[in-house]
Amino acid sequence: MMVSLTARAANRRCTVLCFIIFSLAVLVCTDDNYYDLLGISRASSSREIRQAFKKLALKLHPDKNQNDPTAHDKFLKINRAYEVLKDEDLRKKYDKYGEKGLDENQGGHYESWSFYRYDFGIYDDDPEIFTLDKGEFDGATNSGEVWFVNFYSPGCSHCHDLAPTWREFAKEMDGLIRIGAVNCRDERMLCRNRGINSYPSLYIFKAGMNPVKYFGDRSHGSLVNFAMKYVSSAVTELWAGNFRSSLENSFASGVGWLITFCADSGDCLSTQTRLKLAGMLDGLVSVGWMDCTTQADLCDNLEITTSATAYFPPGANLADKEKSGVLFFSSLDTKEIYKEVMELLPNLEMLSSDSLKDRLTHHRWLIFFTHGYDQQFDLPDFKKLNVLLRGEHVQVGRFDCQSSPSTCSSLYIHKPCVAAFKGKGVKDFEIHHGKTNVYELVTFAKDSVNSHVITLGPKNFPGNEREPWLVDFFAPWCPPCKALLPELRKASKRAFGQVRFGTLDCTIHEGLCNMHNIRAYPTTVVFNQSNIHEYEGHHSAEQILEFIEDLRNPSVVTLTPTTFRELVKGRGHDEIWMVDYYAPWCGPCQALMPEWKRMARNLNGLINVGSVDCQKYSSLCNQEYVQAYPEIRLYPANFKNPNSYQTYNGWQRDSYALKSWGLSFLPKMATELTPENFNEKVLKSQDHWVLDFYAPWCGPCKQFAPEFEFVARLLTGKVKAGKVDCQAYGHICQSAGIRAYPTVKFYPYVGSKKKNVEGEHVDSRDAKDIVNTVTARLGVLQKQNKASRKDEL
Ligand SMILES: *[C@@H]1O[C@H](CO)[C@@H](O)[C@H](O)[C@H]1NC(C)=O
Repeated sequence: MMVSLTARAANRRCTVLCFIIFSLAVLVCTDDNYYDLLGISRASSSREIRQAFKKLALKLHPDKNQNDPTAHDKFLKINRAYEVLKDEDLRKKYDKYGEKGLDENQGGHYESWSFYRYDFGIYDDDPEIFTLDKGEFDGATNSGEVWFVNFYSPGCSHCHDLAPTWREFAKEMDGLIRIGAVNCRDERMLCRNRGINSYPSLYIFKAGMNPVKYFGDRSHGSLVNFAMKYVSSAVTELWAGNFRSSLENSFASGVGWLITFCADSGDCLSTQTRLKLAGMLDGLVSVGWMDCTTQADLCDNLEITTSATAYFPPGANLADKEKSGVLFFSSLDTKEIYKEVMELLPNLEMLSSDSLKDRLTHHRWLIFFTHGYDQQFDLPDFKKLNVLLRGEHVQVGRFDCQSSPSTCSSLYIHKPCVAAFKGKGVKDFEIHHGKTNVYELVTFAKDSVNSHVITLGPKNFPGNEREPWLVDFFAPWCPPCKALLPELRKASKRAFGQVRFGTLDCTIHEGLCNMHNIRAYPTTVVFNQSNIHEYEGHHSAEQILEFIEDLRNPSVVTLTPTTFRELVKGRGHDEIWMVDYYAPWCGPCQALMPEWKRMARNLNGLINVGSVDCQKYSSLCNQEYVQAYPEIRLYPANFKNPNSYQTYNGWQRDSYALKSWGLSFLPKMATELTPENFNEKVLKSQDHWVLDFYAPWCGPCKQFAPEFEFVARLLTGKVKAGKVDCQAYGHICQSAGIRAYPTVKFYPYVGSKKKNVEGEHVDSRDAKDIVNTVTARLGVLQKQNKASRKDEL
């Protein structure tokens, strides 16, 4: 007895251990290769990946290693690693399934050495220039800061000509506006959606304003002049008439003055420096200048004898400048003065643990959590946040975890971080996982307080009994995870009231993540009571929402061996089934899944749609001789043998093509019309008719035919459907005024003895569209009919 118990316990321990070893093995063999090849960590940003690859490419390129017969193969390997890791979706797939999820040909093509030397990542070594990809672009350009973005292509010589100027320009404008670059070769979709059709294209972006294209010459001076127009910078000329009132007004709202006095001797700040400072200090400090040659008395009073520049803090006493904190600057340099002024401004408010609860219940906050003093969170630039977030009614503060360790540990905050509280108490918050710079923080704060994504921990992790939750298991170092977060926020707003959204940091809550068997990041799962549905789609809000909608109203039946036997093999003689045999790790299968669901929804139940997970039910798939994934089969109606099926061999696996294919198996409902019954049945009867005029040789007509069958079914009982072959009966089509094939026309019965032979043109080839048009038209006719009958009475 004892022995067997011990043995069983040992056995169980082994299972646990084996499992852990197994998962480690998965991690090691799938993850380390590509990252190791490029010599980077799994947390690398896209800029770091490009930089690492470029370095290797210049060294290992076959052009430079012509005596090495293995150079080509070696280079293909690192090229493949780069091509996969630079793409957010492929990178996630690779992290999750290793190479087996990828297309074999990925990275099979590379460029010459000189491409990597001269055309590749051309702004990656400039800290002032942000190379934006599609995931970052919207957030950055909507952050409230002004962005000037250079859309370029590496192959374009004008782009290279501009590069040195663009770099210099970026250095000069640093702190005033953000300078961006988009490589349109890498970001084709982003550039196409933005309507970029020549390179370089330079655009100003500012929240709440349409982008403005720059048409001027590409010189440094012209670029600065143009960009300055979009900087909100007001420099007030001060004189005896407005001096005191201007100062008092600003002081009253806690804002000080930076004033440059221009006298006969010495130097005051140049007009451009004043403007720049006004832009950089917008909302924080008022900027003015005074001409001491015309305001001699005033300058005398202030004891200013030569040109000078000074900061007057709120409440400064002009009679006792030194004591009241007025500070004179010796520098004339924009950045130096900016830095000194920022240091003089009061720091962000430090919140106390006593008041925290109360204040978080009544206001939205962005809070910096530290453990004692933390240099990384003490940047002068952060003092701008209050101004930038004022419009969203978000206050900005600090909290020192050392002042109340229990507060921080109850929030599972163990490391310095920034979090947004949504104004609904201490629990409703989200931790920021991007870079801690001003524009990312602003974007995050705005986005977070307006969305419904919260940071989860063991205390608020959804249990079985609650409402549906979407949980994103992630690691803060994983770039695809970061890219997903804004999409989750977007989706959470639209799914509000249906599904709650939370994120769980697996580096902190390892236990919970292990319990859910999380093997790759991010893993996104919907919990609905005891049901768990893993999301496999792209990182886009649209597809996440579609996924949720499909959970609420499933369009595809998830088949098991039992239901497959009962529903598909045991289907009725009038039933059709379409089945997708797939494997979760297969890329084309993943691409098919949303299209498959969309197709199923569009079929309105006319055809049953199912899917079989061949990883889970491998014996079923073996028994059905499924050879490759995905395999799409249709089990027709009116069969002799329930096992017989048709396989889809089309190139396109989009919902439209698949739907047409499925519909072509339905028995025909539309009547083929002859001249005789066109006259008798259509024109002279009291039925409504919708007709498809086609020619047998016309390709689009063939494509449209199943869609029209769909129309016929959707309108059954209300409107009859017919088809006219315009090759056989040219004169019908001529008299109906047909000029193109296929043409759809509606022939409603409106009470006359004979309908108009021309009918009513319906300008669509989409079944639902056509049905909507026809139904709306019938509604109108019925109303008119009623009205005229009343008149007759
Ligand atoms: C959750 O499950 C319930 C009951 O099964 C269902 O009605 C609801 O649509 C589901 N919601 C989601 C989002 O899956």
